[in-house]
Amino acid sequence: MTNTGSNDDQTSTANAMWGGRFAAGPDAIMEAINASISFDQRMARQDIEGSRAHAAMLAAQGIVRDNDAEAIREGLLTVLSEIEGGNFAFSTALEDIHMNVEARLKELVGEPAGRLHTARSRNDQVATDFRLWVREQMDAAIEGLEALQRALLGQAEAGADWVMPGFTHLQTAQPVTWGHHMMAYVEMFGRDASRFRDARVRMNESPLGAAALAGTSFPIDREMTAKALGFDRPCANSLDAVSDRDFALEFLSSASICAMHLSRLAEELVIWSSAQFRFVSLSDRFSTGSSIMPQKKNPDAAELIRAKIGRIFGANVALMTVMKGLALTYSKDMQEDKEQVFDAADNLMLALAAMTGMAGDMQARVPELEAAAASGFSTATDLADWLVRALDMPFRDAHHVTGSLVKLAEDKGCDLPDLSLEEMQGVHGEITEAVFEVLGVHNSVASRTSYGGTAPVRVREQIARWRGALG
Ligand code: ARG
Repeated sequence: MTNTGSNDDQTSTANAMWGGRFAAGPDAIMEAINASISFDQRMARQDIEGSRAHAAMLAAQGIVRDNDAEAIREGLLTVLSEIEGGNFAFSTALEDIHMNVEARLKELVGEPAGRLHTARSRNDQVATDFRLWVREQMDAAIEGLEALQRALLGQAEAGADWVMPGFTHLQTAQPVTWGHHMMAYVEMFGRDASRFRDARVRMNESPLGAAALAGTSFPIDREMTAKALGFDRPCANSLDAVSDRDFALEFLSSASICAMHLSRLAEELVIWSSAQFRFVSLSDRFSTGSSIMPQKKNPDAAELIRAKIGRIFGANVALMTVMKGLALTYSKDMQEDKEQVFDAADNLMLALAAMTGMAGDMQARVPELEAAAASGFSTATDLADWLVRALDMPFRDAHHVTGSLVKLAEDKGCDLPDLSLEEMQGVHGEITEAVFEVLGVHNSVASRTSYGGTAPVRVREQIARWRGALG
């Protein structure tokens, strides 16, 4: 640090990394708004991996001496073990993880530490660290989704032919099978996993070596560092490499869609576990009691999943907003990317794990499901279809006749199968005894054998396909 200013106090606080140009240290408020170490310390491992790869490349290219690079690489391992062991004093004055690590490296290995930042900037460094961090979260999300799919698959296998009401507008529509309903979510979570997989392919390029923004005059080997860090290739444009965070936004948008699916399932579990529905009982492991009402068993985990989803949506909007007005290339605004992604990732993983536990544990109440499936005139469509098939009626007329039969049953306070043949014939004279076969819920679901339909035979095919894919 060279400083000739008159204020000795301030001279002594000028920054070690760029103190050459500065006479004074930052105001305390400046330090508070500027420092990211309180959160970006979560990228310590990725930062050190990136620096080790960079040091090895600098030596291989003859840019720094082998023994200096070796000292740097060894020293970085010591820093990592200090951080992981909780024996590291993070300094706010050193702003961020990059400078905290480098300053400690200097204490450990001395002069060679100053050679690590050759042909590099914190701009490509942070872009690299953050990509590595987000890439791990994409892998974790895929793993979490597959575990959830397996839990749902287990439910579908157990209840491929249990009947339950299928709803539209949350009004009873047609009977469906429990397995079919579970498999609907298996499909959704399968697409969520594929979104993370697609995004991972796109983001797996290395920003390292883009330097501040324009590349470097040193003869670096970007292929080498890319390969060492598990990237497919280096980013092709140095300006793009340091200035875009679209990979983080793809993580957040994929996470948001996945979160939306989780929230819908959570909502169903809240409804299904209520005393009014009684479709499922949730395990004690994922429920809580009430301090005043002894009868209560609350689906808190489902409610919290439903609520936490808001943070993930919020992170997506927040980072989109941070990025939308930034001229190329790096601006400090982009430091705001991390907390959003960290929080969203933490809550997504927690929500996935909680849903996996709940979905695996929940017990369907099969008799209640079946009773509900049979109520609400759920086989009215089957009756209309029968009139079309057996009496060659146009569907529109069949719909009308069925409507009259539903009205009759409603007036009598009974369900469709409880009407007598005479009563039915009072509405339409050609109806025969055979109609009663289609009014039962099991026959109803068994008849829906079109591809993707609710018939147990079709549902089992889908279960087998997913079992093959997920193991
Ligand atoms: N802490 C910074 C961030 O997270 C690191 C990059 C700083 N670069 C710079 N030119 N000030 O974005």
